[in-house]
Amino acid sequence: MKIIGLFWGSNTGNQEEAVGFLKDYMVAEGCKIEEFNIADTEPSKMLDYEILIVGCPTWHIGELQDDWDFIYSKYKELDFTGKQAAFFGCGDQVGYSDNFLDAIGLLAKPFMANGGKLVGRWPTEGYDFDLSLALDGDDFLGLGLDNDNQDEETEERLIIWAELIKDEFGL
Ligand SMILES: Cc1cc2nc3c(=O)[nH]c(=O)nc-3n(C[C@H](O)[C@H](O)[C@H](O)COP(=O)(O)O)c2cc1C
Repeated sequence: MKIIGLFWGSNTGNQEEAVGFLKDYMVAEGCKIEEFNIADTEPSKMLDYEILIVGCPTWHIGELQDDWDFIYSKYKELDFTGKQAAFFGCGDQVGYSDNFLDAIGLLAKPFMANGGKLVGRWPTEGYDFDLSLALDGDDFLGLGLDNDNQDEETEERLIIWAELIKDEFGL
């Protein structure tokens, strides 16, 4: 089975916790995952993997989490031809309704523009917000988590999404 490269960043721990839950669930399901905090990882490391999961919360009103922001210009230069990736991120649909989950869009769009195949789109049903850079029609470009307002939904969303991306990755 192909090894998944899971790359993530987190300022205050919500994304890190979601990453831990997703990894434990998928490993228990037989997936092989190597995990990297982008705070101490060169973004070019992503090119070692054909299958990627990317986790990034939105910060500072429509910005990437700090460590992703630091390497964003290098990330946008990467050639993702032949790669598949699934994106997920934490946000706050009440406090930041005009920028909900923007980081998913900020990372997913260059990935696709640079040759990558996106998997793991997620319906917007069940969320209440005004604007998001993560939108693609009626779907988000990846899984949205909102621990600030819908903490009780997070684990179920992660489990459903894990099954979805396993199928779409062909694992
Ligand atoms: C100063 C600040 C700015 C934020 N900006 C946004 C935003 O623009 N959009 C959004 O969806 N969430 C925003 N959030 C909410 C965070 O994404 C959310 O709390 C998330 O769970 C943090 O993840 P982390 O603990 O992994 O860093 C913001 C939170 C703070 C404190």
